[in-house]
Amino acid sequence: MKHSFDYALAFSRNIGWFTEDEQAILRTKRIAIAGMGGVGGSHLLTLVRVGITKFNLSDFDEFACENTNRQAGANTFTYEKKKLDVMIEMAKAINPEVEINIFPDGINNENTDEFLKDVDCYVDSLDFFALEARKEVFKLCAEKEIPATTAAPIGMGTAYLNFLPGKMTFEEYFRLDGYTENEQYLRFFLGLTPAALQQAYLVDPTKLDLGNKKGPSTMMGCQLASGVAGTQVVKILLNRGKVLNVPWGLHFDAYTNRFKKTWRPGGNRNVIQRLAFSIGKKKLLNQLPRQPEKEIKPLSLIEKILDYARWAPSGDNVQAWQFEIVNDTSFIIHGTDTREHCVYDLDGHSSHLAHGILLETISISASQFGCAIETENDFNNPQHIKIMVNLIEDNSIQTSELLPFVKVRAVQRRAMGTRALSDSEKTALKNALPDGYNLIWFESFDDRLKLAKLNFCNAKTRLTMKEAYHTHKNIIDWHQQFSETKIPEKALGVDWATARLMEWLFKDWNRINFANKYFAGTVMPRIQLDFIPSLKSCAHFAIQAENEATSIEDYINAGRAIQKFWLTTAKLGLGFQPEQTPVIFSKYLRQGIQFTSDEAVIKNANKGKAMFDDLMPHTEKTLFLGRLGRSQLPTSRSTRKPLAELIINT
Ligand SMILES: Cc1cc2nc3c(=O)[nH]c(=O)nc-3n(C[C@H](O)[C@H](O)[C@H](O)COP(=O)(O)O)c2cc1C
Repeated sequence: MKHSFDYALAFSRNIGWFTEDEQAILRTKRIAIAGMGGVGGSHLLTLVRVGITKFNLSDFDEFACENTNRQAGANTFTYEKKKLDVMIEMAKAINPEVEINIFPDGINNENTDEFLKDVDCYVDSLDFFALEARKEVFKLCAEKEIPATTAAPIGMGTAYLNFLPGKMTFEEYFRLDGYTENEQYLRFFLGLTPAALQQAYLVDPTKLDLGNKKGPSTMMGCQLASGVAGTQVVKILLNRGKVLNVPWGLHFDAYTNRFKKTWRPGGNRNVIQRLAFSIGKKKLLNQLPRQPEKEIKPLSLIEKILDYARWAPSGDNVQAWQFEIVNDTSFIIHGTDTREHCVYDLDGHSSHLAHGILLETISISASQFGCAIETENDFNNPQHIKIMVNLIEDNSIQTSELLPFVKVRAVQRRAMGTRALSDSEKTALKNALPDGYNLIWFESFDDRLKLAKLNFCNAKTRLTMKEAYHTHKNIIDWHQQFSETKIPEKALGVDWATARLMEWLFKDWNRINFANKYFAGTVMPRIQLDFIPSLKSCAHFAIQAENEATSIEDYINAGRAIQKFWLTTAKLGLGFQPEQTPVIFSKYLRQGIQFTSDEAVIKNANKGKAMFDDLMPHTEKTLFLGRLGRSQLPTSRSTRKPLAELIINT
């Protein structure tokens, strides 16, 4: 049967939630929507499907590729087409009876009156930064007694406010007048999202760039916002259900699973809002004055590869490497070690493992450009090794499936889920290791308890040893969520009180010594950092070499194998924490490397070594010890030095 458009049939499935009479009322109503971009397009399509047939629409812009992620009308066929034309076509394709008054120059002082003519409800979807136009429209809505609703896409949720006739107005709520342009943006944002549910998951705050009037957005936010705006409009138009006016606000965030109703009497004059404003202003000032967009010099092939590879992990995030670019296809890795100041690296091999991890990451990164790598080693000076890397174009090279995990992978130091690894996960992890390496698992509760005791004992060695004090003091970035050169406090896995205790203790070795002697000062950190996480994991593992590693090359190769394994855990969605210090101390004791002058510490380290030897055969072959668990990505992590700092000219 051939269908033709029939209003009653088209919207018949609305009936039930609306009565037929209500549907008929909706058919007669006129809605004004300013802006057909991020959220306006979705608002329009939602309201057309509600059965609204009359619209006043404005937009002066054209669709472009960068609108793809969120704008309902943006696709490869609509680039460079007027947003207004495209959206009208889409609306008419849904309901050929829609009647639209168009405002193709956008909203301005001259046409706002006309734009709101005969309008029953105004739906705000102007660009976030179009504050002057927004103020003007809301002011006129209040004068003309037109109800107005604003549902903003915020992260992966929506925050929404209504402005009904005779109630608190836009200006009374936001109080923008008298502030600078940037302050007004901040006040608008704070008023829009008093609950700030999105704050917890903005993974790259640099993308929120008030200075350049840019911010990140998602389609989910837009769709949720349209669902909400559509509902507010229907309630307003049908005079049904309670519609909240500001200073009430609502915020639903699908990401954090939260819904919050806020009440800010006085709007932005409210004391909570004032506080948020003064805190926000400090952050905002960092972005002022408005920056012209920096001209970004395109990266060369080697720079592109290194920009990825710099995300390789290294002990304590020291990134003991720099790169010397020789020509278009060759560069030298200068790898140093930290033996002079780090007790965990007295023979340089921890650094060499990291250099191997870096090399593997370079190889993975090069694969995306169809390149293999060939290397020439110069290990004459073990404290400053040089590896010449030559890029070889090779059509048979496919992008490594581990590439997307290079930047995502991060250490999880907190307690993790304990659901056992499946056979297929274990097989994938075993297969990740090249020939010459074996994997030993410690999965049962008994085994994990043994590891927990080993790590607890080993942590005492670490924390009571004066030789490790400077390392610990220097590697933690207190109070931080992210850190370019250290480990941020929030990635440590201790609660706030323990972090404060540690911060206080680490200020002075005598404090640690005193606390250890009289108050068992390291017990709390050791329980939180070592004992509990060891139990709260699904397995511990040891990577062993078939032949004991002795040379720098052995450690570099082992590093390459470890990175394949580590990235595979990330691909499987598993949390990962290295537990290297028991391996390091037992090696020192086995090889007679003097790592402390404190007899009590040596005694404790020997106790740890005995526990370690008891756990597995051939501990001397162990290259890497760690734990895995069911875990989400950590919200706090180490980041990396910028590429420019890592490239040297010699
Ligand atoms: C050779 C090596 C040894 C490491 N040993 C430990 C360790 O014993 N305990 C730990 O929590 N993290 C350890 N790490 C993890 C680093 O601290 C971490 O990779 C670095 O801070 C960068 O952070 P990210 O991996 O989260 O990006 C080790 C990393 C490497 C490469």
